[in-house]
Amino acid sequence: MRTFLRLKHQRHTRLSDEFQGEELRYPEELVAVFLRHYTRPGAIVLDPFAGYGTTLTVAEAMDRAGYGVETDLRRVRYARTLLRHPTRLIHGDAREIATYGLPPIDFCMTSPPFMAHNEPENVLSGEQRPDAYAAYLHDFTAIYAGIAPLLRPGARAVLEVSNLKEPGGTTMLAWDVARAVAQVLVFEGEVVIGWDQYAYGYDHSYCLVFRAP
Ligand SMILES: C[S@@+](CC[C@H](N)C(=O)[O-])C[C@H]1O[C@@H](n2cnc3c(N)ncnc32)[C@H](O)[C@@H]1O
Repeated sequence: MRTFLRLKHQRHTRLSDEFQGEELRYPEELVAVFLRHYTRPGAIVLDPFAGYGTTLTVAEAMDRAGYGVETDLRRVRYARTLLRHPTRLIHGDAREIATYGLPPIDFCMTSPPFMAHNEPENVLSGEQRPDAYAAYLHDFTAIYAGIAPLLRPGARAVLEVSNLKEPGGTTMLAWDVARAVAQVLVFEGEVVIGWDQYAYGYDHSYCLVFRAP
């Protein structure tokens, strides 16, 4: 796979009115590019932060089986209306992923919740604490430690992340998440996505690619 791709930052579907102003989806084409490269029809695909179900809907459209976990019940309810197999989207917490009885996974792809280094709340747990960013990174390691045994040998896990340019300073989110997940999966490298417009303060993002040991 090439390590620099140019893509349009556009979605093929409109988010329902209920969610206007909170567009967090990644473009379907980004998921399709990785599914074409790393999977075949019939593959089992997991998104631990499933959001509005983009990974799962693209997987189903490409004849793969999509499984996901999402904490926000409104998003779960909405995404389930888009899915052929709605029960494969679990209303739950990725930190509990090992407990959901998921099948062996051929490929894992997500865009996780982003957090700036100076935010007071760990966005993965909702917990307020002085070291919230450190706790967030620790949760990443724990979540992927839970995913690792589910992955078939050699299966890839991809996370789309960006560094965050904020007035209070730039958060090296992409580097920090890479280090956190690399404690439990093998880091293979990054695919840089050059977007046709700015998103998250940049016109590019990183798809971090890991492999199950
Ligand atoms: C960037 S969004 C994912 C969007 C998704 N890729 C899409 O295109 O629809 C991240 C999602 O992670 C969810 N989330 C946050 N903490 C979580 C947790 N502990 N377990 C599972 N999901 C969580 C958020 O509610 C949010 O919907």
